[in-house]
Amino acid sequence: MRLWVLAGLVAMGVTGAQAQGTLNVYCSVQMEWCQGLATQFQRDTGIRVNMTQRGSGETLAAMRAESQNPRGDVWFGGTGDPHLAAAEENLTQSYESANNAQLHPWALTQWRQSNQRAIGVYAGAIGFGFNTELLARRNIAAPACWADLLEPRFRGEIQMANPNSSGTAYVVIATLVQLMGEEPAFAYLRRLHPNVNSYTRSGTAPIKAVARGETGVSISFVHDAVTERNAGFPAAWATPCEGTGYEIGSMSIIRGARNIAQARRFYDWALTAPAQRLGFEAGGQLQQPSNREAPLPPNAPDLGAIRLIEYDFARYGRAAERRRLIERWDREVGALPR
Ligand code: G6P
Repeated sequence: MRLWVLAGLVAMGVTGAQAQGTLNVYCSVQMEWCQGLATQFQRDTGIRVNMTQRGSGETLAAMRAESQNPRGDVWFGGTGDPHLAAAEENLTQSYESANNAQLHPWALTQWRQSNQRAIGVYAGAIGFGFNTELLARRNIAAPACWADLLEPRFRGEIQMANPNSSGTAYVVIATLVQLMGEEPAFAYLRRLHPNVNSYTRSGTAPIKAVARGETGVSISFVHDAVTERNAGFPAAWATPCEGTGYEIGSMSIIRGARNIAQARRFYDWALTAPAQRLGFEAGGQLQQPSNREAPLPPNAPDLGAIRLIEYDFARYGRAAERRRLIERWDREVGALPR
């Protein structure tokens, strides 16, 4: 977890910021984007932002632990399933923004499904990231299908995240369960295990390891592979031939938020097109924004061109289902010897 306070960043100085108050944001996108949001929101409103960046699963766990004495006001970003679980567990509160009218239908589906407690801010698809130079050097063909990842050529060559901390990893597991059925999906994950060299805490660690040539292949959100490529690394991506799942990256207001007026102001602001462009402009992020006026960033994966499953957010966003699948993964996969 990293925490930082943005103080004195804006021209107005301490007095102005005090007058506008402060806001505690729990942020589950990449650090650069979180930082860009804090800086720009502070500049636009004079509200001082305390930002805590953590994975989606970690943020949900923190909110559960703090439920009697909430310390965060808004949870921005991270995969949609744990936002739905938080809504069901009464850790977040409902809100209707005037800016809802500007959003794509999928963002509002998330809002309705959560009883108005979570709203879509972006979408992205799961796939494979790989290091083109490393694979070429080792004469390994890139993966094109889920089935390929089980091949001996990928022994010890794959990274994915741990679903306890990472929302990305949970989307991967829920995707496989929906594609194959639960028993075959867990058999698949057990067979995948010898090919996995590490289950990382963060969802983006595997593609960063790919970019730096530390591992050949990752199971990742494909937009994160483009971010690495744009940064100059030999990273490429593919989406599985059998089909794949996706996230509705979400935002929620935390129940018991102490700075509720500032939280609503941030929420309204974060739904606007200029704020949604910050993902790309400040963070180099390439998700599909939920505001219809925010353009798909250049080179971003086009979700319309990817074979997506009909991800059952209602089912896989349920708190008990989430807990059950993660516990099963811990028992049957995470605990396997190396
Ligand atoms: C990255 C992706 C986001 C995703 C997030 C989840 O930031 O770009 O699209 O929502 O990871 O992080 P986590 O660590 O929970 O898997």
